[in-house]
Amino acid sequence: MGSSSPARTVWVEVQPRRYPVIIHPGGLASLGAILAEHLKAPRAFLITDRNVGLLYADQAAAALREAGFEPTVFAVEPGESSKSLQTAGRIYDALAAAKIDRACPAVSLGGGVVGDLTGFVAATWLRGIPFAQCSTTVEANVDASVGGKTAVNHASGKNMIGAFYQPQFVLIDPDTLRTLSERDYRAGLAESIKHAVVRDADFFDWHERHADEIRTCQVDCLPELFERNVRVKAEIVAQDEREITGLRALLNFGHTVGHAIESAMARRGRPWRHGEAVAAGMVAAAEIAVAAGRLDRAAAERIVELIRRVGLPIAAPLADAHDELWRLIEADKKVSAGRLRFVLADAIGRARLYDDVQHPWIQAGIARAVG
Ligand code: GLY
Repeated sequence: MGSSSPARTVWVEVQPRRYPVIIHPGGLASLGAILAEHLKAPRAFLITDRNVGLLYADQAAAALREAGFEPTVFAVEPGESSKSLQTAGRIYDALAAAKIDRACPAVSLGGGVVGDLTGFVAATWLRGIPFAQCSTTVEANVDASVGGKTAVNHASGKNMIGAFYQPQFVLIDPDTLRTLSERDYRAGLAESIKHAVVRDADFFDWHERHADEIRTCQVDCLPELFERNVRVKAEIVAQDEREITGLRALLNFGHTVGHAIESAMARRGRPWRHGEAVAAGMVAAAEIAVAAGRLDRAAAERIVELIRRVGLPIAAPLADAHDELWRLIEADKKVSAGRLRFVLADAIGRARLYDDVQHPWIQAGIARAVG
């Protein structure tokens, strides 16, 4: 695969203007040219992390320079700890030093952490400067790069300080996945299965047909994988950008138990990737839906089997942790106005929010997702 593969473009229809998500193998070399189609400015501020920066910052900076933007590159530490007001403060200092005015864009180069942080800084510096996103992980390509959620974390929780702030464009270059570890690659696939279960039965069938190619990162299937994910998410975001009607909340499928598993594994000093925890969380959600009489057993088993086939865990090593997981799930309830809301699938491709989920059903879900 190389830059000769054609670009695919999906438009995200949001206010005040729609923007394109461009999926283009080798597209990083065109980053500056794409940016120049959207705006004219003397300078651009590129934010990345040290790992991604080592691999791709020079190429991205060269592409920006070629298109007439003088780039400043700022690399943060890799990992969630960089999504902080402290890191944002250091970036503001650097933006001032680089004379980034309202015309000059902030460009992210990386995964979800870098995208969220860059979007937050872009939304707040000078009350908003242009923002473009170049996404380099599966998780960001299928989920975080679409929908304009930007944030940093606070002591009271993840993503507590932020804004909805849509980029000028998102560039997905599947070639950058070559340098992703197998574990990180597979973890990102959880959100892809989530999209299929929640919204697109045909896309679920597609995953089943291509599960082996998907698991082994066969490059030919990646542009279609990303395009279909972006279409699902764009369709939801266009109707419920601010998560008001409950539609966008469906994207939390698998996340209630998933977040509890993620926390419990981190407490044990054996942190799981977010996607790994969501994978086991989706197994729990499927079991809860069966216990609730809303999903038939065969459909639930198809979901579990697909998760397994793409190389994701279907249970967490937390057999001793039922009570702890229950407490963590209950704690989630506090942030949703005292109601324990679950996204459950009624069928593959169709999910709904339920607030009448009973304790024994949740226990059945936990039991299935730990082992
Ligand atoms: N990842 C869930 C959302 O963007 O709403």
